[in-house]
Amino acid sequence: MVEEGENIMNGETLLAVEDLSVYYYTLEGVVKAVRNLNFQLGKGEILCLVGESGSGKSTVGLAISGALPENAMIASGKIIFNDIDLLRLPEEKLREIQGREISIIFQDPAATLNPLFTIGSILTDVIKTHLGITEKDKVKKLALEMLKIAGLPDPERIYNSYPHELSGGMLQRAIIAVALSTRPKLLIADEPTTMLDVTLQAQILDLLLDLQKKFKLSILFITHNLGVAAEIADRILVMYAGIGLEEASTYEILRNPLHPYTKGLIECVPRCHIRVSKLRYIPGSLPDLRNPPPGCPFHPRCPYAMDICKREEPPMIEVKTGHRVWCHLYSKR
Ligand SMILES: Nc1ncnc2c1ncn2[C@@H]1O[C@H](COP(=O)(O)OP(=O)(O)OP(=O)(O)O)[C@@H](O)[C@H]1O
Ligand code: SF4
Ligand SMILES: [Mg+2]
Repeated sequence: MVEEGENIMNGETLLAVEDLSVYYYTLEGVVKAVRNLNFQLGKGEILCLVGESGSGKSTVGLAISGALPENAMIASGKIIFNDIDLLRLPEEKLREIQGREISIIFQDPAATLNPLFTIGSILTDVIKTHLGITEKDKVKKLALEMLKIAGLPDPERIYNSYPHELSGGMLQRAIIAVALSTRPKLLIADEPTTMLDVTLQAQILDLLLDLQKKFKLSILFITHNLGVAAEIADRILVMYAGIGLEEASTYEILRNPLHPYTKGLIECVPRCHIRVSKLRYIPGSLPDLRNPPPGCPFHPRCPYAMDICKREEPPMIEVKTGHRVWCHLYSKR
């Protein structure tokens, strides 16, 4: 986590998401899951997307990694990765970059590991496809090395195991080994510890921090748990109803939250339990994303709501370097 005064964004940018909007088409209408989202992720940086269920966090991860379902459409925006706008690339080149340089892991191991294959065959398949290494011995050596790096004590046994033969913690380590075996520059980790108990959760977070340093990885970490975000993130972007409401360094978000929603989230986390506590939410619920309310989508739940909040969307204000907030309370009118 970043300490007071450090500015993590001095480094080079790996990923820039600009004005991204993603919609899902359903029989009941169009779900505006992500709206005009902007953020940047530096090389070697960990940015956490935090927000309650349904706020659009996973949709962002899926859009960047090219794994959106068929009923989704990127309605606007750019996803600039290593100075290349991914959305303007020909399909083949896009798949190559998303397959090799961007990896995504999910909370549900079944979404990543096919239960019909051993960990070894999954790993060797990924290595052959994305790294173009074909010599059997070399591929196996690399696969075992990745399992070791992911902290698995008996790589040979794990290599020959099926996913259902591993415990939850081991499975998540195996998933991390698979995700990192292509040597990606960006890891998107979507609630990777949510299904684990507190001890295993802490171990996996430590592993990710170790690997982030070892491989100089950038990590987009997705969580609904502010305690987890505080543990791992350099910066935090708070999302609500598909919109980025506030973004700052982790230190700044925890010590000086500005947006009423962020303040509510922080107040909900008892200080002494910040490491483990689950987020308890602010009264009320997310608006219907097929028909979001006009103005600020948080206004029906906001204790500070003014008339203008019901009519006009607030502007994004940079209150100080690296700290942005989307709220009428901070606009100079
Ligand atoms: N395939 C889909 N078809 C239609 N709507 C979808 C689809 N996937 C997600 N949504 C909707 O898009 C919105 C954003 O969902 P998303 O999964 O991105 O949120 P999230 O913040 O990741 O939530 P969670 O914390 O529960 O994982 C929600 O309203 C959700 O119901
Ligand atoms: S814009 Fe208005 S309703 Fe929205 S968070 Fe700020 S004060 Fe509350
Ligand atoms: Mg999600």
